[in-house]
Amino acid sequence: MTPRKIFWLGSASLCAAAVYLVYRNVQFVWLALFVAVIVLLGIYDLLQTKHAIRRNFPVVGRFRYLFELVRPELHQYFVESNSSGRPFSRELRSLVYQRAKGVTDTLPFGTEKDVYAIGYEWMNHSLQAIEPPHEPPRVQVGGPDCKQPYSAAVLNVSAMSYGSLSKNAILALNKGAKAGGFAHNTGEGGLSPHHLEGGGDIIWQVGTGYFGCRTAEGKFDPGLFAEKASLANVRMIEIKLSQGAKPGHGGILPARKVTAEISQIRNVPMGKDVLSPPVWCTRALG
Ligand SMILES: Cc1cc2nc3c(=O)[nH]c(=O)nc-3n(C[C@H](O)[C@H](O)[C@H](O)COP(=O)(O)O)c2cc1C
Repeated sequence: MTPRKIFWLGSASLCAAAVYLVYRNVQFVWLALFVAVIVLLGIYDLLQTKHAIRRNFPVVGRFRYLFELVRPELHQYFVESNSSGRPFSRELRSLVYQRAKGVTDTLPFGTEKDVYAIGYEWMNHSLQAIEPPHEPPRVQVGGPDCKQPYSAAVLNVSAMSYGSLSKNAILALNKGAKAGGFAHNTGEGGLSPHHLEGGGDIIWQVGTGYFGCRTAEGKFDPGLFAEKASLANVRMIEIKLSQGAKPGHGGILPARKVTAEISQIRNVPMGKDVLSPPVWCTRALG
């Protein structure tokens, strides 16, 4: 028997029972009203054509949406282990909460992790610890022919465009780079005055849209490139050959997000969507 037939049979029996109960005792009218609401809901589910689940499983199909609503909570509280959550496990989150609140963040009796599992990684401490270097290690970028080699820190600020981050975030990152002696990558959204204000070392990322060094037609502009590349803060140029996060698609900055400032920084017109093509187009250089 199909769920639809079960519904019709069930509704008919419930209605008959409700009518009988009200006939015997008028106090059962609330029960009868409840049955009527359920039956009407079921008939509505049967007649609507938008949701296959509700059409095939009237009334009970609605529980699916309810379960989907509470699924993340059920999963988090009952299924997930302390260490299995992604991207941050419960264990790690608790540690952050505890430290933020200034309460004890150490657990007695060792670890709950399976340290013998394949792929478990750890670091062994040295029996004879050596003196740490006074200066953090750096990497020389630029060979013997390079006129302005750069001694780069090992950890730097990764590429995040102005526009995806606010002015204050860019200012803070750049000041941090200056204070910590590391470099700040502009991201493909161009080199903004906010990147230069803090005086930190800059890695200027030129992406597939050539933002900040493009002609009105969207081609590579060697003059603009040379102008910005020779700024003292710009210590390295990073050429981003394709869109890693959106392979084959490229990126889009919707027209409504192109403010006068962004239009000036990126050399793009206002009022139009800005496209970052999927890959660098060498023809555009010509
Ligand atoms: C807000 C934001 C903007 C980003 N913009 C760029 C970008 O313009 N160019 C780029 O190559 N990567 C960009 N990324 C990617 C980051 O540089 C980095 O590779 C990525 O976030 C992974 O590092 P994480 O695990 O430390 O976050 C961006 C990431 C974020 C969160």
